[in-house]
Amino acid sequence: MPVILAIESSCDDTSAAVCVDGAVLSNVIANQAIHEAYGGVVPELASRVHQQNIVPAVQQALLNAKVNKNDIDAVAFTRGPGLLGSLLVGVSFAKGFALANSLPLIEVNHMQAHVLAHFIGEKKPSFPFLCLTVSGGHTQIVLVKDYFDMEVIGQTLDDAAGEAMDKTSKILGLPYPGGPLIDKYARLGNPDRFKFPEPQIPGFDYSFSGLKTSILYFIRDNVAANPNFIQDNINDICASVEKRIVTILLNKFERAAREYGIKDVAMAGGVSANTGLRQGLQQMAEKNGWNYFIPAMQYCTDNAGMIAIAGYHKYLKGEFTGQNVAPLARMPF
Ligand code: KG4
Ligand code: ZN
Repeated sequence: MPVILAIESSCDDTSAAVCVDGAVLSNVIANQAIHEAYGGVVPELASRVHQQNIVPAVQQALLNAKVNKNDIDAVAFTRGPGLLGSLLVGVSFAKGFALANSLPLIEVNHMQAHVLAHFIGEKKPSFPFLCLTVSGGHTQIVLVKDYFDMEVIGQTLDDAAGEAMDKTSKILGLPYPGGPLIDKYARLGNPDRFKFPEPQIPGFDYSFSGLKTSILYFIRDNVAANPNFIQDNINDICASVEKRIVTILLNKFERAAREYGIKDVAMAGGVSANTGLRQGLQQMAEKNGWNYFIPAMQYCTDNAGMIAIAGYHKYLKGEFTGQNVAPLARMPF
């Protein structure tokens, strides 16, 4: 019955979770509103706010799970990839907590954890499956052969899908993070009103920087002709941008699943909260007779629940790490 305390602090969310025998009993997430005004995450501010949030987040996670500090068997934490200053706060806390309470440490790769979020709920994919991991920092098609045997078969060559959402919203004058706002406006708009280009990249790799530039020029030219262009058309602009990002993501994902003969398709990361993408994945799976999997919303965006489930599976394998562990801004699978 291992009890795992998990810590996540790779970007701008401070999160703590408790997992008892593979069941995630609490998942506390402290968001950082401070970045809204800057149009993106400010690393220095993020690490400072992590320092303020980490202890209350852990206390709340233990309280919500009705678990006592003395019942914990191991501390799992995100080692990377992410912002170094942010990671340092979580890693240092985990190391200090483990040292003070004589507990083993379990290091977790944030990108693997996004994929392993699928093992939190009731409905779990079967190996091998294909996971589209789409977040603010990453866009990857991952072939998942086992819990910790994953291969990236395609990824973005420049911007991530979430970055494309956030940069578009910045062009439109919306606050950060813009993805949820694009989602909100897109529900009210006509996705076929404006056409944006689909990049022609070989294999299963993605590119979003050309799309961002075409959106920038499109807005600039239209605002020059009509200063109210954005306000007058916000719903249709968001719906059209969202549709293009969704078709770029899913066209490649579908081809990859066919080529690898995959029957279980999954999606993870913050952008998988997007309504259009969720509907698109469902339609794609139903058309092909595949099973599809999307984690519950709280386990899509950055959260310690996914670190806890990854930590649990590492605990079962007996994979622990020493007190000399340091965070990694870049961390391959
Ligand atoms: O996984 P995540 O929480 O953090 C990273 O590891 O990056 O992903 C955050 C990203 C942001 O770019 C945010 O705009 C996007 O996920 N996002 C969305 C939605 N909710 C979050 N994008 C589109 N529609 C949403 N509903
Ligand atoms: Zn993430």
